[in-house]
Amino acid sequence: MGRYLVTGGAGYVGSHIALALLDRGDEVVVLDDLRQGHRAAVQPGAELVVADLADRHRVQEVLAGGRFDGVLHFAALSLVGESMREPLRYIAENVGNTLWLADAAVRAGVKRFVLSSTAALFGVPTRIPIDEEETLAPVSAYGESKLMAERGLDWADRIHGLRSASLRYFNAAGADPGGRLGEDHDPETHLIPNAINAALALGPPLTVFGTDYDTPDGTAIRDYVHVADLADAHLRVLDRLSERGSCRYNVGSGTGASVLEVIAAVERATGRPVPHVLGPRRAGDPPVLVASNAMLRKETGWVPRLGALDDIVGTAAAWRMKHPRGFRDLVGVAA
Ligand SMILES: NC(=O)c1ccc[n+]([C@@H]2O[C@H](COP(=O)([O-])OP(=O)(O)OC[C@H]3O[C@@H](n4cnc5c(N)ncnc54)[C@H](O)[C@@H]3O)[C@@H](O)[C@H]2O)c1
Repeated sequence: MGRYLVTGGAGYVGSHIALALLDRGDEVVVLDDLRQGHRAAVQPGAELVVADLADRHRVQEVLAGGRFDGVLHFAALSLVGESMREPLRYIAENVGNTLWLADAAVRAGVKRFVLSSTAALFGVPTRIPIDEEETLAPVSAYGESKLMAERGLDWADRIHGLRSASLRYFNAAGADPGGRLGEDHDPETHLIPNAINAALALGPPLTVFGTDYDTPDGTAIRDYVHVADLADAHLRVLDRLSERGSCRYNVGSGTGASVLEVIAAVERATGRPVPHVLGPRRAGDPPVLVASNAMLRKETGWVPRLGALDDIVGTAAAWRMKHPRGFRDLVGVAA
């Protein structure tokens, strides 16, 4: 059993990983300022510290007294479009918060650090599926901020021996199969929850960005990885970090689904049509992004168990149908 600090653990991905740690008997302290996250997403059994990561002294205090076996770092600004309007804020905040957090971890004697990184590091990839050898060439300030954070962590390892894993997620999706958690962002920018919201008349009709890509149905193809599989990847990587040193993995299901395939899956899961309009491509959106997960599988034994699109969409839709107002339904007040 270990004790872990989970930054951003009241948010979508972080809350699912915190849940997986609790489920196997680890102790969890969540640090989140609730700007996007929800108090109700923090499970009983986890301690919640409400604080901004930019408050370095508070972060140092939490780490210094915490006897942590590792830090899992999810808290970040993560909207690609916003990052292109405010690149300096994105880079300063994501890089600064990650590296000061790593600094506090080093001072507190913590030896393991897991960073939520992203496929946005690769920009427009040169080959599909995308493996760890792909050129790092972000085309957004968001992607650049994660690349710089990864590089900073290399120095923390080289000089201070802080072992880190950078997990480059593709599209995290789905919800806890046990129905305890789901995805609830405001604004919501992800395709699957937006398609579900459109089907349930909880949001506007979906816009399909681009119908003339060189793909079988003309719409863009992405790799959706179930958030419970993502959680399993975190646990496997975390448990191997001390013995094998810093590492980087691409984390995706290894298969792609087009926007129209996602719409069809949402229609199956909800039993309702997804109202949608066809729009032009968005600048900078590559036609296909699919991960090679071969290295993760080989080195950790990970296999995506809920990789099928119907599992991903089915769990996401089940949670939203049960909680139409998201986490607000769980507390009865704005969460
Ligand atoms: N969701 C995806 O598909 C995806 C894909 C690739 C990478 N990622 C990365 O995974 C991580 C989690 O993504 P998510 O979708 O769960 O996002 P999210 O917004 O749901 O969760 C982030 C959490 O961090 C908190 N937070 C943000 N800034 C903070 C700060 N300065 N201090 C304290 N708390 C702060 C927010 O309140 C929120 O609860 C992010 O780092 C993101 O870049 C996500």
